Amino acid sequence: ATALPDIEPARLVFTRNSNPKPPPESSKLVWGRIFTDHMLMIKWNALSGWADPHILPYGPLSLEPSSSVLHYAQTIFEGLKAYRDEDGKITLFRPDMNMKRMNRSAARIALPGFDGDALQKLIMKLIEIDAHWVPQLPGHSLYIRPTLIGNQPTLGVAPPTDALLFVICSPVGPYYPNGFKPVSLYGTTEFVRAAPGGTGSYKLGVNYAPGIIPQKLAAKQGYAQNLWLWGPDHLLTEVGTMNVLAVFKKDDGSIELATPPLEDVILPGITRDSVLELARAHASGSLSLDGLPKNFTVTERPISMKEVKAASENGTLVEIFGAGTAAVITTVDRIGYLGEDVIVPVGEDGLGPVSRVILREITGRQIGKIPSSWSVVV
Ligand code: COI
Repeated sequence: ATALPDIEPARLVFTRNSNPKPPPESSKLVWGRIFTDHMLMIKWNALSGWADPHILPYGPLSLEPSSSVLHYAQTIFEGLKAYRDEDGKITLFRPDMNMKRMNRSAARIALPGFDGDALQKLIMKLIEIDAHWVPQLPGHSLYIRPTLIGNQPTLGVAPPTDALLFVICSPVGPYYPNGFKPVSLYGTTEFVRAAPGGTGSYKLGVNYAPGIIPQKLAAKQGYAQNLWLWGPDHLLTEVGTMNVLAVFKKDDGSIELATPPLEDVILPGITRDSVLELARAHASGSLSLDGLPKNFTVTERPISMKEVKAASENGTLVEIFGAGTAAVITTVDRIGYLGEDVIVPVGEDGLGPVSRVILREITGRQIGKIPSSWSVVV
């Protein structure tokens, strides 16, 4: 059988927005609320494959009320950022990782796969067209949201015969409107974000809605986000919508950066991967990160609340932080756990000794101050 058409950048159809908006002042941005003048849209059908890609004015979609996404949550998404460096050059941070992960998510819920390089090319084209929307202020970027939905107008629960891939872009400032501050976590045991055999390691829309009420309940008790604990040992899995990492002082005087291993309750975060890769390069001596100890190890292993609590009490807990695309690094200052607060050390600048160094290196690479292969010119 001949293969059905894949996404084909050369067949792009462009409809310019005849009523473009002026981008808002960067200092006034509310996270994820404003979108650029254009979006990318590509339809898929099981018999004809991927249709010609289209860049068109940002605007409402028209879907049948019977569309499968609206009933059975056939939707996956990605988040990546474009940065503008000091010379005005626009770059994407590790977009290949998002393309790979999106294909992995698609496969999990019977949505169609696609050529990741081709989609990346089209995303770059979209950013070129809306280039004047990419902010330059420190901590600002263009947040790119690729989304793929099942769009079959029937109520049968089955792989969709039709799908729609679209990409929208939002100029964003820092994720936390009140500035970079450590957050408090509610050690959550009465809800689970993900379970073994479930979908927690895929970036599916369905993983996010059930977290909203637990977050509201945590906020009611005075905590900013959920620390999702798993199993009888209350293992740390994720914080809010981010991966979690912890730093411990070991008996031999070394410092350990630890994070739960990738398995089916952990999302393979790209910021998580970046933190680990940098930390491992430092630990092995192939990269020297100023400020990190020489005697430093990086491990992917289970971390229990019992261990965290004991380390907090005996002074061997160094720091805990979340890592995600939206907020990059989020430090933690306390964890509400079974009725008491576990105190987590944090420096006066709101960072810890490891997160401070890693954040500087990651943001340096993101904005192109530190040259690296992770930064891809648009
Ligand atoms: C993250 O980058 O932390 C995310 O998962 C995106 C979030 C807005 C859902």
